[in-house]
Order: sequence, then C-alpha cells, then structure tokens
Amino acid sequence: MEKIKVNLGENSHYIYIGRRIEEIGEIIRNGEFGEKFVILSDFNVYSIYGEKIKKSIGNVREIIIQPGERQKNFKTVLRIINKLAEFKINREDTVINLGGGIINDIGGFVSSIYKRGINYISIPTTLLAQVDASIGGKTGINLPFGKNLVGTFYQPTFILIDFQTLLTLPYRETKQGIAEIIKYGVIKNEKIFEKLERIKKDEINENLEFLIKESIKIKVDIVEKDEKERKGIREILNFGHTLGHGIEISDIKNFSHGDSVCLGMIGESYIGYKKGLCSREVYLRIKELGKKFRLLNSFEKINFERIIDFMKHDKKIKKEKVRFVLPERIGKVKIGVEIEDKEILKILKEIKNEKT
Ligand SMILES: NC(=O)c1ccc[n+]([C@@H]2O[C@H](COP(=O)([O-])OP(=O)(O)OC[C@H]3O[C@@H](n4cnc5c(N)ncnc54)[C@H](O)[C@@H]3O)[C@@H](O)[C@H]2O)c1
Ligand SMILES: [Zn+2]
Repeated sequence: MEKIKVNLGENSHYIYIGRRIEEIGEIIRNGEFGEKFVILSDFNVYSIYGEKIKKSIGNVREIIIQPGERQKNFKTVLRIINKLAEFKINREDTVINLGGGIINDIGGFVSSIYKRGINYISIPTTLLAQVDASIGGKTGINLPFGKNLVGTFYQPTFILIDFQTLLTLPYRETKQGIAEIIKYGVIKNEKIFEKLERIKKDEINENLEFLIKESIKIKVDIVEKDEKERKGIREILNFGHTLGHGIEISDIKNFSHGDSVCLGMIGESYIGYKKGLCSREVYLRIKELGKKFRLLNSFEKINFERIIDFMKHDKKIKKEKVRFVLPERIGKVKIGVEIEDKEILKILKEIKNEKT
C-alpha cells in the first residue's frame, strides 16, 4: 500500500498504488468529488469490475462503450457527453475511468471539455495503462489522418492502481505493458531491466508490483519536469517509439503497439551500437528480453524503405533528419541524436543479416 504524489502545482494529485477497487468508495468519502458519479468503461472491463465499484460507491450511473481503438473518435465522445448531460452531471461531479488506455484517453478528453472541465478519477486496468497511459494527463482521440491528433492535457483527481485487475488480463495485453517497462529500464533504471532478465516469463505476475511501482516513479518524475511536453524532457519516453511508431503505422493490423515498440527498441539499440554510443551487448540484451516475453524480435518481414517514409511523416522529424533517443548503456540514453535517413537505412539493412 503506497501513495505517490504527482507534483504539478494546482494539478497535483495522488496515485494510490496497490489499493483494491472495492476501496474506491472509502477514498471518495474522504474527499470532495461532488454528489454524482459516472463510471465510464468498456463492456469487457465493466462486466468483470463494474459491480464492485457500484457496490463500493452506492449511487452511481454508468456509460459503457465497445472496446477497441476504433472507439477513440468524436462520435463516441459526443455519445458520452450527451449521456453526461442527460444524467445532469455538473462541474463538481466526477467521472470514473475504469479500463485500459483507451478508456483513459477518451474519458480524460471528455472530462476536460464537458462543462469546460469536470473531475475524473482513473482506475487503469491494463498493465500499459497502469505504467503509462493513466499517468501524465495526456488525453485524446484519433482522426482518420492519424492517432491521438485531438486531445488535451488534463490531470485526474486521483489514480487508483489495483494489481489484482491484471490477473484477468490476457497475456497478449500484458505484454503490451511489458514493452513499456523494458523501455523504462533502458532509459532510466537498470534494476527494472535486470529484474526482467532474471525472472522467467511465467513469473511475471508475481513481480509486477515491483515493476509497476518503479515504472510509475520514472514516468511521474519525467511528467513533473515537463508536464505539457514543452521542454524536451518528455522526449526521453520516445525510446523505441521513433522506429516503433513507423513500424506500427506501416501495418497497424499486424503490429501491436508493444510488438512495434520492442522492434523499435531493438532497432534503435542496434543504431546506437553502430554509431558507437553503446556496446553490442546492449542490443543483444534488449533483443533477448523481447524474445523471452514473446514480443516480436525479428525484422525478417519488415520493409525498411517503407518504414522510413512513415517515420518521416511522423511528428518526431526535424528537417531531413530523424531524431532518436539512443542507449549509451542499460539505464542511460542520449536524447536528440539526429541521423540522415540514408544512414538509418544502411544500418537497419545490416540488422537483417544478424544471426542472433
Ligand atoms: N495518454 C497516454 O499517455 C497514453 C500512453 C500510452 C498509450 N495510450 C493509449 O492507450 C491505448 C491502448 O491502451 P491499452 O493497451 O490499455 O488498450 P485497451 O484499453 O484497449 O485495453 C486492451 C483490452 O483489454 C481489455 N481489458 C482491459 N482491462 C482488462 C482487465 N483487467 N481484464 C480483462 N480485460 C481487460 C479491454 O477491454 C481491451 O479489450 C491506445 O489508444 C494508446 O494510444 C495513451
Ligand atoms: Zn508506447
């Protein structure tokens, strides 16, 4: 049982780590959250955890949407906003986001615009949302032109992390979060990385508490220093995501975010090695870890020419060069390394000939 304060001036809030969902009522009764509560969730999550929250809080309404990335659009937002109006939700009332990163992003966005901003509480139920999406106040939806193109920075009133919710999560979702935890290890914390190296794949659940806490501390520290992503500090979180995002959008149906980020981390550490920033061992260790946790680790089917094109249309591009976060060792990275696309292509083509 632990709580971490996210220091953001008047947007400061707590993350309650290791509390049970059933305790939500108790936490709420000790604070100022208005009279009315609305749970926003998707059908999968609500069917498992909805009743627990209802029992704990008492009088609460619910808005349930279909699961899936396709829901992150204006149509869903409008539906939710109309429901809030129908329920006569006022500014001092509270929306409870119960679900993964998708619910987090939609619910946060809706809360930031309905009546110019109402309270929201986050109860992230995927590993990815617990270590990443629920922290930092980024909300948003997609446009046909791309992901997360509309959104706000809007912080929750508090975040409640219940490790038990992860026990019902399918492994294909758990590994999406593992990819981000590997990233935290490489950018800031060797201990996390070594822990993942030491354990077997099937021992992941009993080690999640430690891994989640350490990951949250890293994200909170970065967000506190650069809440609105204006100082370049948050850029460190892009490790694995420059190449990874290119891979993901080149074939969104076949590459999940976690798989793409894992390939991105392997590729970017290989670039780091070839540029003389880190040893070959760093690349090999990242690759090995991805393999152990059943994340993609082979570039066989990747068409790098195509991916470079996608990367160049991505927001991380400055001028004709691509900006990378590259490892120096496990636990330390270099930000803002600019490389010409020809050179990237040359290095990445070599990775296909790697035997290990
Ligand atoms: N705001 C941010 O800073 C930020 C950061 C990273 C990712 N994101 C966003 O997060 C989204 C991805 O989030 P996600 O990976 O959590 O996906 P998700 O919200 O779609 O959840 C994945 C699936 O697991 C199910 N699920 C969730 N919790 C469960 C549980 N405890 N037991 C059983 N099933 C459960 C959901 O119904 C869904 O089908 C993307 O849209 C991405 O853009 C946002
Ligand atoms: Zn990510």
